[in-house]
Formats: sequence, structure tokens, C-alpha cells
Amino acid sequence: MLDAIIAPSILSADFSCLGEEVQNVVSAGADWIHFDVMDNRFVPNLTFGPCVLQAIRGRTDVPVDVHLMVADPDSLIPAFAKAGADWITVHAESTPHLDRSLQLIRSLGIRSGVVLNPSTPIGILEYVLDKTDMVLLMSVNPGFGGQKFIPSSLKKIASVRSMLDEYLGETGKKIRLEVDGGVKEENIASIARAGADTFVAGSAIFSRKGLSGYAQAISQMKAEIAKVESRTE
Ligand code: DX5
Ligand code: ZN
Repeated sequence: MLDAIIAPSILSADFSCLGEEVQNVVSAGADWIHFDVMDNRFVPNLTFGPCVLQAIRGRTDVPVDVHLMVADPDSLIPAFAKAGADWITVHAESTPHLDRSLQLIRSLGIRSGVVLNPSTPIGILEYVLDKTDMVLLMSVNPGFGGQKFIPSSLKKIASVRSMLDEYLGETGKKIRLEVDGGVKEENIASIARAGADTFVAGSAIFSRKGLSGYAQAISQMKAEIAKVESRTE
């Protein structure tokens, strides 16, 4: 049983009516909201900060998954915690003290996650698994929505799945495995089969425009995942 989560990335939403977009996508079946924070330093794009998180926090009760694509994440983590984040993920490449960043997130009562860029080896996870609640594998180079899924990500997802299964088997803990970038109805089954349980999708959902389009995209994704689940049970 995957216990799958669909987390629409509001990076592809209509920012002129962000509150309604959040409410619509939640009504359409979103399990979480994925909130992409970019600083034009760690990644070549600039998005939103804690004030925007606080504003959308008032529009929904579903968990908000804050993906920090920023240099010096430790300086921003407390503000996002205060603004209502449920999850905060930090890029291993963005902090010289990953262990400390993860401890900081948890010390604020938030679930922690480690993000790896497509080219980052998975070995960096080994000594921080006890401090993380989720691993997020980027399947595009971060910075923009609407990019193509990098095919070698499937092998990486499977390798991290084995690593987590081995670790979790010993401890009985749960660590989620999230995938972000180029996730669509057509490839979500292969991503689930490789071992992911948490799926970020931006353009594939928000390009459908409006509540009924979002609901169609999300239900199709859930149906694809359910087929994989029924084959593995
Ligand atoms: C990319 C972001 C993603 C992005 C996904 O840097 O982290 O969350 O919005 O968008 P799609 O699903 O369009 O690839
Ligand atoms: Zn993201």
C-alpha cells in the first residue's frame, strides 16, 4: 500500500487569484499543497515568501509542503514555520550543514525533508535518515515548472526506495519518497512503480484550468497509482 499523496505545485497556478486556485485544487482532490520558494540565487527564478504562505494558509487545512530552493535556508526556516508550513524540505546542495538544517526544522515542530537535484548522488542521505521525514528527488533541474521528466530519475527513485526500505525495516519508521518535476498522468504509474509515494505536479494539473479540469487530472493520476497498487498487492 503506497498511501499516495498528490501535491499540486501552485507555481503553475494563476497568481492573480491564488487563494481561489488553492481552494479549487483542494476541492478537486489535492492531498497537499506544494509551495515552491525560489530566491534567484540557488535557482534562476524568484517566487514567493512567508507572507504568501500565511495568506494561503487561511484558505485551506490541507498540509502545505514548502520546498525551499534558496541559498542559506536556515535563515528562512523559522519564518516559514511561523507562517504555517507543515513540511519544509531543504536541498542538500544549498546548505553546508544539512544535519543542522534538518534539526532546525524539527525543533520548530515541522516535518523535515531532504531534496536532491538530479545530479546529486544519493549517498548524502545515509547519515541523515534519522533526522528526515521525507526524501524529495528532483526529476528536473529546479527553477521552472513545465519541464520534461529526466528519465534517469526512475533508476534513482528505485535506489532510494531500496535504501529507505532497508533503513525503515530496521526502525519501523515512515519516510516519504516524493518526486518533483515533469510528473504527468502518462508517467505517474512508472514513477509509482519505481517506489515513489508522494507526487508533485504543477503544469499537468494547472494547465487544465478550473475546478473540473483539476479534478479530472488528479483523479486520473490517482487511478494510475491505484492500478500500480493493485498489481503489487
Ligand atoms: C521546479 C519546482 C516544481 C515545479 C513542478 O523547480 O520545484 O515543483 O513547479 O512543475 P511541473 O510539474 O510543471 O514540472
Ligand atoms: Zn517543488
